[in-house]
Amino acid sequence: MKLVLLGPPGAGKGTLAEKLARKYEIPAISTGDLFRKTAASGSDLGKELKAIMQRGELVPDTLTISVVRDRLSNEDAGRGYLLDGFPRTIQQAEALSGFAALNHVLNLVISDDAIIERLSGRRICPQCGEIYHIKYMPPKVDNRCDNDGADLTIRDDDKIEAIKNRLKVYKKQTEPLIEYYRNTGLLKDLDASLKPEGVLARAIETLGH
Ligand code: AP5
Repeated sequence: MKLVLLGPPGAGKGTLAEKLARKYEIPAISTGDLFRKTAASGSDLGKELKAIMQRGELVPDTLTISVVRDRLSNEDAGRGYLLDGFPRTIQQAEALSGFAALNHVLNLVISDDAIIERLSGRRICPQCGEIYHIKYMPPKVDNRCDNDGADLTIRDDDKIEAIKNRLKVYKKQTEPLIEYYRNTGLLKDLDASLKPEGVLARAIETLGH
């Protein structure tokens, strides 16, 4: 299965991606995670990516496309994959169509108010990447990861100014992809306002196996 999760920042793409990847035994590939890893390396490119992400802007298409093309050539992507956060522009979608034949595009639908509530309450484990929410998916022990006990952190781009810019960028550059993929017949809308188990159940129902 070759699947794209489309949706605004904070819609729950990463949360759903991890569950679907486990169910279908395919890798979940998040361009945001790949860029955050490079940013954490402290290299010159990493510093550049960190600044772009902190502003809530998009990484240039050429770089993003080559990172994804490289990642998809890994052996683990041979049986299929789930793309979380890519493509995000028409240019990325057109490039992807040159090296991947997608089966499904799930479009996570959610209101701006819910997005802001989700992103401002998000906490991340810096060690294993587990995603929490202080209200909706709290850890068992306050601010500690259930998996490894690490102190949870707030993503640099989850500050309110960056969130607002990410939403603006999403509407201008990524939202046109909804129409683009609707025209291909691949796109299905998914109500992302449900509880995580509800979103997962609907996604599996939509994917059909
Ligand atoms: P990226 O990491 O992709 O960020 P994003 O798209 O803004 O999405 P998020 O990770 O913020 O949200 P999500 O939808 O995964 O939600 P989550 O599951 O965490 O990109 C970051 C940056 O990298 C970009 O701004 C850009 O600079 C760069 N970048 C990445 N890809 C790029 C590309 N293709 N081109 C150019 N630049 C690129 O959930 C959010 C919160 O809600 C969590 O706290 C979670 O616990 C909670 N939650 C999730 N589901 C539910 C639910 N059903 N009910 C209640 N709470 C829920």
